[in-house]
Amino acid sequence: MIIAETGPPQPREHLQEKCVNPSRRAFLMTSILAGGAIVLSAAPLVSTVIVPSLKKGVGRWIDFGKADSLTSDHFSMLSYEFMVKDGWLDLPQRGFVWAKADSMEGFKIFSSTCSHLACNVIWNKDSRVFECPCHSGRFDPDGRPVSGPPKKPLSLLLHKVEEEKLLIHITL
Ligand code: FES
Repeated sequence: MIIAETGPPQPREHLQEKCVNPSRRAFLMTSILAGGAIVLSAAPLVSTVIVPSLKKGVGRWIDFGKADSLTSDHFSMLSYEFMVKDGWLDLPQRGFVWAKADSMEGFKIFSSTCSHLACNVIWNKDSRVFECPCHSGRFDPDGRPVSGPPKKPLSLLLHKVEEEKLLIHITL
């Protein structure tokens, strides 16, 4: 059987331009689907690992009870514990701060974290210095480094008194 072509003959290159190469189309579709799958599968990772890690550095206000229980004679250790959501886990966050009443500023509250390599400093009320057990760093009652490797002072913590209760901002 003979099939007659209608219309003028067209050059072969022209016909190839009009057709979409099927293997190229399949490749593009596969790439788009794979990209979508990667984005969808990464969503839990972003929400549970990356976003919480970006929240580091934010903090929360912790209630330490009656503000008038602090004296101006020496620093008191105030301990805290609260739960922090880390991905699917709720983990306890524990620590302590050093606080005392202060006639000039109301209260003076230091982080217990040494500015050298983050060990916990301890207030020695006999020698009136904060001592770091890790590398023998010492800080004066104003939190300034006086000996050992620390070069930066202890961090002063934000605080406020509400309804006679001392609230301290703890950085996570
Ligand atoms: S961590 Fe405190 S002196 Fe090194």
